[in-house]
Amino acid sequence: MTSPIDASSTSAWTELTALRDAFSPDLRGWFADDAQRVESLTFDLADLRVDLSKNLITPEVRAALVRLAEQTGVAERFAAMLEGVHINTTEDRAVLHTALRRPAGASPELVVDGQHVDHDVHEVLDALGAFADRVRSGEWRGVTGKKVTHVVNIGIGGSDLGPVMVYEALKPYGSGIQARFVSNIDPTDMAEKTADLDPETTLFIVASKTFTTLETLTNARLARDWLWERLGAAGVDVSTDEARSTAVAHHFVAVSTALDRVAAFGIDPANAFGFWDWVGGRYSVDSAIGLSLAIAFGPEVFRDLLAGFHAVDEHVRTTPLERNVPVLMGLLNVWYTNFLGAQSHAVLPYAQQLSRFPAYLQQLTMESNGKSVRWDGSPVTTDTGEVFWGEPGTNGQHAFYQLIHQGTRLIPADFIAFANPAYPLSDDGRDVHGLFLANFLAQTKALAFGKTAAEVEAEGTTGALVAARTFPGNRPTTSIFADALTPAVLGQLIALYEHITFTQGAVWGINSFDQWGVELGKQLALQIAPAIEGDQDAIAAQDPSTRALLAYYHEHRKA
Ligand code: F6P
Repeated sequence: MTSPIDASSTSAWTELTALRDAFSPDLRGWFADDAQRVESLTFDLADLRVDLSKNLITPEVRAALVRLAEQTGVAERFAAMLEGVHINTTEDRAVLHTALRRPAGASPELVVDGQHVDHDVHEVLDALGAFADRVRSGEWRGVTGKKVTHVVNIGIGGSDLGPVMVYEALKPYGSGIQARFVSNIDPTDMAEKTADLDPETTLFIVASKTFTTLETLTNARLARDWLWERLGAAGVDVSTDEARSTAVAHHFVAVSTALDRVAAFGIDPANAFGFWDWVGGRYSVDSAIGLSLAIAFGPEVFRDLLAGFHAVDEHVRTTPLERNVPVLMGLLNVWYTNFLGAQSHAVLPYAQQLSRFPAYLQQLTMESNGKSVRWDGSPVTTDTGEVFWGEPGTNGQHAFYQLIHQGTRLIPADFIAFANPAYPLSDDGRDVHGLFLANFLAQTKALAFGKTAAEVEAEGTTGALVAARTFPGNRPTTSIFADALTPAVLGQLIALYEHITFTQGAVWGINSFDQWGVELGKQLALQIAPAIEGDQDAIAAQDPSTRALLAYYHEHRKA
């Protein structure tokens, strides 16, 4: 891998610094002066209409940002990723999630490190689809011969957040089999999610890229015990090792890159679906990790989702930087983070179905770009990843929007909305979805254009209330609009954010595909576990604060 280019020493960075020093945001003025502003900053990205016009940019800033992308080699790095170059330097791996959604027979064939990637991807996809069909049709049955009614995905991080987010988003496409998701090692999660399930009709999917993750393996063992216990209680014979293995064979399947560990757990490798080390956990919802989705919605829906991803991959691959939507959105984030002092970024879906989308994006963006060193190990030269957060509108409006409108911090926000609802309901003849969308439009308008003191006074307000009721405006937003939340549209949305994240990482010169920052906590948890159990040497080895907290725990823990 070549050394990263230091973004802060490029001429574009110098230009942007000068533009920032003279910057005076004026969305009211910019809109008044430029009749073409909406048109020049609105893009169609596959089925998504993306309106960037309410962002704090001028044509000069936009041009300088594009030059920054050119000078930091964003397009070259994207091409390197697609080709399978080992851009994940610390793990010496290719980064090929884009290969998971290449259509069958794509040309030229992708061969990386001797692996026929397209062939392998489609082999697994076909197997996944065939298995999903068997479960859906009832050909696959539980140990007592009953059809599966519930799948429970056991995974965490990328092996959970993607599937649960997509499941919630596409629920209207469900027909029959329901999915649940257990991720937390807090026993409450497993206890509550399985409480009302029938063991004879439940299929567990253990989803773990590495098949070493403490939370997932612990929960998988809990699930296995639950299965045996509940089957026994229902009068099924699970008294012998053989009977218990047979039960596991009917009620457990796995998704992993480590099929040997799957077998060691007791799951038949014939019932396991593989993927590869070049798929990062947070980029894996479109791999076999999506098995729960293929079962709940059917393989066709899953393939439509993948097609949506691919449409955006193609846009990024073939579109010049100045019109490349994910690149422009990534560059806007760089502008806000590095030049205008933003520390966070809100994602506000006007769709209840996307309730888990912000949480999904937190792993995608923050595990990818929360780094202080660059891909060659040298320190970063700029600030990196911002905090992503959000909640569906309009709930957020009644909670935290106050701070976005009138607080002292700059919080760029993405609004995501759909022209058509999943459930068209009316209230006394009034389309409720229309009212919902009116809120989306009202919020982006208020944030952009605010309300001046003169406008407040013109309404009859006087005194100190005038300042309190004034809205400064110039709060940047991006509006992403689509016809409806279909599987393809959802794939497009996810891919959009993947490539925004990629763009930022490329500009900053960081490896967006490793996550060493999560390792220390994992190691220490293993060291502290014996102290929790009362091991005096382990307790003595802790720092004073941890020792005091352990003492509190031991005092209060009921036997
Ligand atoms: O701890 C972070 C992490 O490694 C994520 O990157 C990953 O998505 C998650 O753990 C789960 O890992 P696995 O799929 O290997 O169980």
